[in-house]
Amino acid sequence: MTIRLSQRISQTAPYAFARIDEEVRKLKAQGVSVIDFGVGDPTSPTPDFVVSALQQAAQQRVNSGYPSYVGEMGFRQACADYLKRDFGVTLDPATEITSTIGSKEAVFNFPLGFVDPGDIVICPTPGYPPYKNGTRFAGAIPYFAPLTAANDFLLDFRAIPADVVARTKIIWINYPNSPTGKMAPRQYLEDLVAWAQEHNIIVAADEGCYIDIYFDHKPVSILEIGKKNVVAFYSLSKRNNMTGYRVGFVAGDAEIVAAFRKVKTNIDSGTPTIIQDAAMAALADDEHVALMREEYRRKREILLTILTRAGFPPVASEATFYLWQRAPDGMTGVDLAERLLKLGIVVTPGEWISDEVADGSNPGREYVRFALVAREEEVEEAGRRISCTSFFKGG
Ligand SMILES: Cc1ncc(COP(=O)(O)O)c(C=O)c1O
Repeated sequence: MTIRLSQRISQTAPYAFARIDEEVRKLKAQGVSVIDFGVGDPTSPTPDFVVSALQQAAQQRVNSGYPSYVGEMGFRQACADYLKRDFGVTLDPATEITSTIGSKEAVFNFPLGFVDPGDIVICPTPGYPPYKNGTRFAGAIPYFAPLTAANDFLLDFRAIPADVVARTKIIWINYPNSPTGKMAPRQYLEDLVAWAQEHNIIVAADEGCYIDIYFDHKPVSILEIGKKNVVAFYSLSKRNNMTGYRVGFVAGDAEIVAAFRKVKTNIDSGTPTIIQDAAMAALADDEHVALMREEYRRKREILLTILTRAGFPPVASEATFYLWQRAPDGMTGVDLAERLLKLGIVVTPGEWISDEVADGSNPGREYVRFALVAREEEVEEAGRRISCTSFFKGG
């Protein structure tokens, strides 16, 4: 029998970060001492108190049972408490919050509740691939809005043509941003929400993955601006070093949350209850998050100093654990990633996580993304390898 793949999957490129994992695996098999700045998967351990909470939950919940589709009330209350404590936002856990199995599934599945064939979803590019892939799987069309140094990496919603806006159902934004590290100023978020309300567009703000990873000043949550037409996605993956736990939540406009709950109850059976229990402990604690921020700050300073000394163009990143580094003149991001790979340093070429925009350019082409997830000693070692190499003409 010849298996014929669906058009949907055959037209989808391999997942960029799975490709990077594969590159790392091959290099390690060849005996290369790899320093991995590729996938944004923290290598620091999950806090002990979270692991203990998970162990206790597994012992106490002797009848496993299916989880709640929308999250246990206690978990949703913990999410509401976190948003109140950290951002001063009041949410009703009964109607304005729902649990997710980490943000990836939530981002990917979200358009299913709101788009019909031919509708448009605005996606930032470079950007997290599930924005566009989830859009396409739901039968809608992604419109790629560039994030460039020229627009200060802020998605320029006012530059989107009127005929596109008229067909748009959802706009994805992601601040603090991967890969550019940009934070959205309050005024920007206010203007965006007003624009979206005027055009009856949902603002899907994938803010919670990196909102706790900042350096000079704290990011604003879009929910501080308002809830109407707004829904925000949160994840414990990076805030609490819990990528493997697969837990997050969505919060905002009750009407949107209700529709999204309907999507999800038809797709999955909820976040495992014992994981929700562990997540409640993680959400209640800010101390370990502050320590994590300091760890990223140190690694960031080490790498930024080295890149600057080596003569690379300045990096604009101000939050997240990503550095969005432009390649030296005359080189693409892929060229630079290949040069770094020869030193055993893995980064993500910008082009792998960005798409062509209306003018035919690809805003990621000249960049690479460093994810500061390697250990501090490894960052120092990467620095030594970079310092001993010239990346510029004649080098
Ligand atoms: C911008 C962005 N959003 C969402 C996610 C999804 O995180 P998770 O599915 O682990 O919650 C990631 C993961 O790297 C991300 O970079």
